[in-house]
Amino acid sequence: MTRILILGGTTEASVLARALAAEDKDAVFSYAGRTDSPVTQPLPTRVGGFGGVSGLVAYLRAENIRAVVDATHPFAAQMSRNAVEACGLAGVPLLALERPSWVAGNDDNWSHVPSVDAAVRALPDSPARVFLAIGKQNLAGFATKPHHYLLRLVDAPEAPPLPDCTVILARGPFDADGDKALMLHHNISHIVAKNAGGAGAEAKLIAARALGLPVILIDRPTLPAREVVATVAEVMRWLAHADLGV
Ligand SMILES: NC(=O)c1ccc[n+]([C@@H]2O[C@H](COP(=O)([O-])OP(=O)(O)OC[C@H]3O[C@@H](n4cnc5c(N)ncnc54)[C@H](OP(=O)(O)O)[C@@H]3O)[C@@H](O)[C@H]2O)c1
Repeated sequence: MTRILILGGTTEASVLARALAAEDKDAVFSYAGRTDSPVTQPLPTRVGGFGGVSGLVAYLRAENIRAVVDATHPFAAQMSRNAVEACGLAGVPLLALERPSWVAGNDDNWSHVPSVDAAVRALPDSPARVFLAIGKQNLAGFATKPHHYLLRLVDAPEAPPLPDCTVILARGPFDADGDKALMLHHNISHIVAKNAGGAGAEAKLIAARALGLPVILIDRPTLPAREVVATVAEVMRWLAHADLGV
């Protein structure tokens, strides 16, 4: 049976893993290893980087992988770029499972910025209370502004990530009422988020809309051309295609 590699780390990747397991497919689930206790998958699971493009090419060949589904987060750009290059070199078909970006409605007060650095610059220069909802990476630049930051992380950090911050530990999906209560409790004035898309992370944007708060939304990184679908059902149809022999 043809082996499938899922590049995971998202809710959608976990849904796909359940669909593949239910059909008894020969698939391997791959985690980067960023969290202390990743969600258990109903598939054989490997953890850790492959070692760049050459490492991934070697892995695809050694494991006889015949199809790759990149279901990583839209901001996991390095992994997605490596997958495009390695699959091209190894001649393995690649499909990306990517949730659509969020789009502002009439009641939203969003500023779109191209990068984390631009998000830092977009914040005011006078003290504010910022819900910095971008995970644990690339936080250092925010220390250049005089704000109090509310961080929501999956794992407890070893040291405070920013000089003036509150850390709460939680794993999504989140709901809008809970996020509204969180923002009121912490007297939040601004939200910084990545345009990740998806229902579970949208709660903060719905809460911001309800509270009339400004959101600084970081645009997705640009990725090389690749075949992209938005749903697990479309992935299953692609995998069932005769050319893949899955
Ligand atoms: N970036 C985010 O905002 C975000 C949010 C939620 C979840 N995640 C998840 O967290 C993981 C890491 O994200 P990132 O932004 O740090 O990635 P990244 O910057 O694109 O990737 C950096 C390196 O981590 C390794 N890697 C990433 N995803 C992997 C996977 N699924 N399996 C094996 N190795 C992987 C690869 O190492 P090698 O080069 O050694 O192969 C890759 O080159 C991803 O799986 C992503 O889905 C990311």
